[in-house]
Amino acid sequence: MNKRKLLALSIATLMIAGLFTGCGSSSNSAKEQEKLTIYCGLMEDHMVKVVEEFKNETGINAEAVRMSSGEILGRIKAEKDNPKASVWYGGPADAFVQANEDGLLENYVSQNSKDIPEKYKDKNGAWTGIYVGYLGFASNKKLLAEKGVEAPKSWDDLLKPQFKGQVSIANPGSSGTAYTALATIIQLKGEEEGLKYMKQLNDNIKSYEKSGTAPARLAGQGEVMVGVSFLHDGIKYREEGMKDIVLTGPKEGTGYEIGATAILKGGPDQDAAKKFTDFVLSKKGQEIGQTVGSYQFLTNKTATAPELSNEIKDTKLIDYDLEWAGKTRSELVEKWNNAIK
Ligand code: G6P
Repeated sequence: MNKRKLLALSIATLMIAGLFTGCGSSSNSAKEQEKLTIYCGLMEDHMVKVVEEFKNETGINAEAVRMSSGEILGRIKAEKDNPKASVWYGGPADAFVQANEDGLLENYVSQNSKDIPEKYKDKNGAWTGIYVGYLGFASNKKLLAEKGVEAPKSWDDLLKPQFKGQVSIANPGSSGTAYTALATIIQLKGEEEGLKYMKQLNDNIKSYEKSGTAPARLAGQGEVMVGVSFLHDGIKYREEGMKDIVLTGPKEGTGYEIGATAILKGGPDQDAAKKFTDFVLSKKGQEIGQTVGSYQFLTNKTATAPELSNEIKDTKLIDYDLEWAGKTRSELVEKWNNAIK
């Protein structure tokens, strides 16, 4: 063998050896390939930040898409035989209860679940609460002053003639927020009176939005006088510059959400899904929201709630029956659709 051939052979051998070491030895490169798809029901900027921090901590290549509760539920039902995503992260637990009834969730009790009180989680680990949000009214104080009306202080105030075409709420079929509102009204007034109320309210509604955050934003932008949203969303928009937002809660009491996270049954990357669940239940994972304007109360006992949530901590709540609300969800949405026709 001449010298040149020998050199070429040694280079080739080195390259092949390098290739094998590259494949086999580094757990980092294996981790880089680990991936995760998340369907996300909370605010987009909150989602982006959590996914980024999760990637930094684990190296898992996570991707998330934001949808409203009803959309996620529809999607995971449609994908039941071939799930594309493995985690459902955020949004009121009512739809998670329904998904669990439909056999769409995988039980997982994270080691961090020990820091979450019983009342905020499914007893078998089908879903676990990550935050709590109170429903209420976000009004535009400039528009109220122009019309000489006070911000609503009860559910019945929303029926005032001065609010005709001036109230925004989302559609309970798509939005978890709006479903919380519908289930709250039925719990307060009973089914018959409650549906009658929703029909009356329909006369004052400007438009039914897809997402539950839109009503607070529309009130902040002066598009409507009152938006029915979670109160922490109103704080977010006000902090972002919509200074005319004023927040009130109904005196007879309001419903609340337990924002949840769950693993989807049969989804790919189940190990990565467990790691993500551990992360979002941890103190660190829960405290990320407040850095990007999400001001819900937190479920992890060791986590610090955002200071700005103090403003709404004394809101009067009803004893919201989540099990009932979850199980009756499809039926109730259909009744609401018929009632407002
Ligand atoms: C916002 C709120 C969350 C809530 C979610 C529900 O993101 O900050 O607390 O869970 O809306 O969204 P949806 O569009 O389903 O009403």
